[in-house]
Amino acid sequence: MNGSKSRPEPAKGSRPRASKGPRPEPAEGSRPRLSTAPRRSFVASYLNDIPRSGIRDFFDIVSARKDVISLGIGEPDFVTPWRIREASITALDRGATTYTSNRGLIELRRQIARYLGQAFDVAYDPENEILITVGVSEALDLAMRAILEPGDEVMYHEPCFVSYNPEIRFAHGVPVPVVTRRENGFRLTRPMLEEKVSPRTKALLLSFPTNPTGATLTREDVEGIAAFAQAHDILVITDEIYSELTYEGERVSIASLPGMKERTIFLHGFSKSWAMTGFRLGYACAPVELSEAMMKIHQYIMMCAPILSQKAAIEALKSNVDTDEMRASYEHRRNFICAGLNEAGIPCHVPKGAFYVFPYVGDYGLTSKDFALRLLDEENVACVPGSAFGASGEGFLRCSYSTDLEAIKEAVTRMARFVARLRKG
Ligand SMILES: Cc1ncc(COP(=O)(O)O)c(C=O)c1O
Repeated sequence: MNGSKSRPEPAKGSRPRASKGPRPEPAEGSRPRLSTAPRRSFVASYLNDIPRSGIRDFFDIVSARKDVISLGIGEPDFVTPWRIREASITALDRGATTYTSNRGLIELRRQIARYLGQAFDVAYDPENEILITVGVSEALDLAMRAILEPGDEVMYHEPCFVSYNPEIRFAHGVPVPVVTRRENGFRLTRPMLEEKVSPRTKALLLSFPTNPTGATLTREDVEGIAAFAQAHDILVITDEIYSELTYEGERVSIASLPGMKERTIFLHGFSKSWAMTGFRLGYACAPVELSEAMMKIHQYIMMCAPILSQKAAIEALKSNVDTDEMRASYEHRRNFICAGLNEAGIPCHVPKGAFYVFPYVGDYGLTSKDFALRLLDEENVACVPGSAFGASGEGFLRCSYSTDLEAIKEAVTRMARFVARLRKG
């Protein structure tokens, strides 16, 4: 058969059909009986201690309602730029429907190496130091599983992305949150780390700009953290997923500092800055030994990332698809929402990156969850309770400004009305 010819669709009505009429009842006495044997729970007990994501829980409530203005979404409101989508469509049209090599397409790895050299001043070998993954989510999981022995501690800054704590626990590590505070813009500095380090500390997980606070670090902060990692012989895992969405200040990756590449796993992906969440594509870069360890897990659990997403990502990097326009649009909306919330008396620091603000709502005698539920109930505005991002997020709300500006304006008006009512009591 000629492979290039498309197969004809089966004619309507020619598919084998299930036999007509009701199924006959099984003969008396032949029905399978329900077992009465005692059955233990087959779920691993450590999972009982890990709660469901607070974001999911909240959005189960939101999805049951109509006409809600949502500031809850953690993904871009842009459709992936056309050139990127087109690359995927063309690849599909040409029959790209196979596995790729476990590490991912070499062309993509070369493009990533080129891009990281230019944008982050870090050099990774596309042959054996870059691994293409199913989002940063998979890369995070691989990193944890590749490095942790049971009981090893991993430090991370909090409030933070909901997955960090569970990812560490899934790999039988011990999460050690380091609380960051709004008084200093939710930054992380060396003295804060020195307070929490222990002989069991194996790694430090970083992500700046941060989800949910939008916090960024100065070069001095990053240098201090690098010196800390070297002094205590700790590995750094840096999640750079929001790096391109930095609005002010210098963007410095810890991997680019002297002596750091050899003790860093650099994670990045296409979800946020290229508006490609649905493509599920990320990558992990690390020195060969670590990269091989992650690769070992990846090849057994995932085999490879989807080929059509890899084709799209090649185009995203090769054609230098301009993400500046999206960044400028987020920045404009950030300025609006921060000014609006502060004017309404809802204190909100001005974050320098990502697409979230993290206003303080702790002065109304409500938990952040109750505040969010009442705001939803009374004004039909959905924001994520800060407690979803760790205990230190209590008293805050995460509001994403990755939504239509008119919707943001209306949401801010409603929030102002809501807190005015709360103040009156
Ligand atoms: C800090 C951070 N890291 C990783 C991810 C997951 O990224 P991906 O879509 O590449 O799996 C998210 C998603 O919200 C995030 O906020």
